[in-house]
Amino acid sequence: MALTATTLEETYEQMAERLEGIVPDIELRYKAELAYEINKLKKERGAIILGHNYMEPALYHSVPDVVGDSLELSRKAAETDADPIVFCGVRFMAETAKILNPDKTVLLPARIAGCSLAASITAEDVRNLREQYPGVPIVTYINTYADVKAECDICCTSGNAHKVVESLDSDTVIFLPDEYLAANVAQETDKRIVFPTITGFSDLKPGLEYEMIGWHGRCEVHEQFTVQDIENVRGQFPDVVVLSHPECSPEVVAASDFSGSTSRMVDYVRDMDAERYLLLTECSMGDNIAAENPDKEMVGLCSIRCPHMNEITLEDTLNALEFNEQIIEVPEDIRVRALKAVERMLEIV
Ligand code: 13P
Ligand code: SF4
Repeated sequence: MALTATTLEETYEQMAERLEGIVPDIELRYKAELAYEINKLKKERGAIILGHNYMEPALYHSVPDVVGDSLELSRKAAETDADPIVFCGVRFMAETAKILNPDKTVLLPARIAGCSLAASITAEDVRNLREQYPGVPIVTYINTYADVKAECDICCTSGNAHKVVESLDSDTVIFLPDEYLAANVAQETDKRIVFPTITGFSDLKPGLEYEMIGWHGRCEVHEQFTVQDIENVRGQFPDVVVLSHPECSPEVVAASDFSGSTSRMVDYVRDMDAERYLLLTECSMGDNIAAENPDKEMVGLCSIRCPHMNEITLEDTLNALEFNEQIIEVPEDIRVRALKAVERMLEIV
């Protein structure tokens, strides 16, 4: 979260206090200079910086005005008056901020910052599904691009997926594109899930054999965690509390003690008394939680960094503010249709 420091020395001191033992001092001194420049420029420009929970610890603990999960950051993007909005997250998140703020400048401090889930489905795929299943509502995970959102009825995030599905007046829903999240939501909502193949859906009889129609997208980070990983750690540390993100497989989620969005995992560790935690999610978040809970141990199994989140650096965040790079644009005809799906999600409390 943003610092209260007004000088470079104070910036360094506040960062050192938050990040002792997490970031080496030499790196901290260099990053404090960047954070100081960013915070100065942010104020001069009247900007807001939104930071996802997966940002690297020095960035996460120094420049964002708000940190959070996809849902919290979407809500913040919907209500902010600040302009520009600098999104320290991946492209689909910055696009969502632009969908909500057509008249503001939205900046993404990276050229690409993709996501394996967003890359797994196209707008045409969704149109084909709509044709195959006329009248079936389509829910899309927020981890998709604007043109895909534009073809769907409502968005969801890991923080509200089951509420979104339950809000629909239909026994059958199409849930795209994360097959693991779909399966986890299907279990929570008592719905069954069937996966159509891309080439045809002849194995399905509409209305009879399925209740949730999924897709074959997966998060390249969360799909790597296994039940064996959990068993190994429990074998060594029987008291460990295991938390998994719902983008993990249903088997991994079932073997965990808790599963929730990134922010719910942050809250869970903060509110629990246990000594030791295993976080089955992107590993920078483990460092961020460790910094905030110095009396608790995060078991160091995780070394899987999301390569897309990793593209966002303090250097590029400064660059974004100095040179307005990279400006996110969404074509207006797509934006207005995508907005309906995003707003419909935000109406669900
Ligand atoms: P959250 O909405 O839980 O923060 O998840 C976003 C994401 O990309 C997880 O991989
Ligand atoms: Fe996408 Fe997975 Fe990275 Fe999240 S962690 S941005 S779902 S690739």
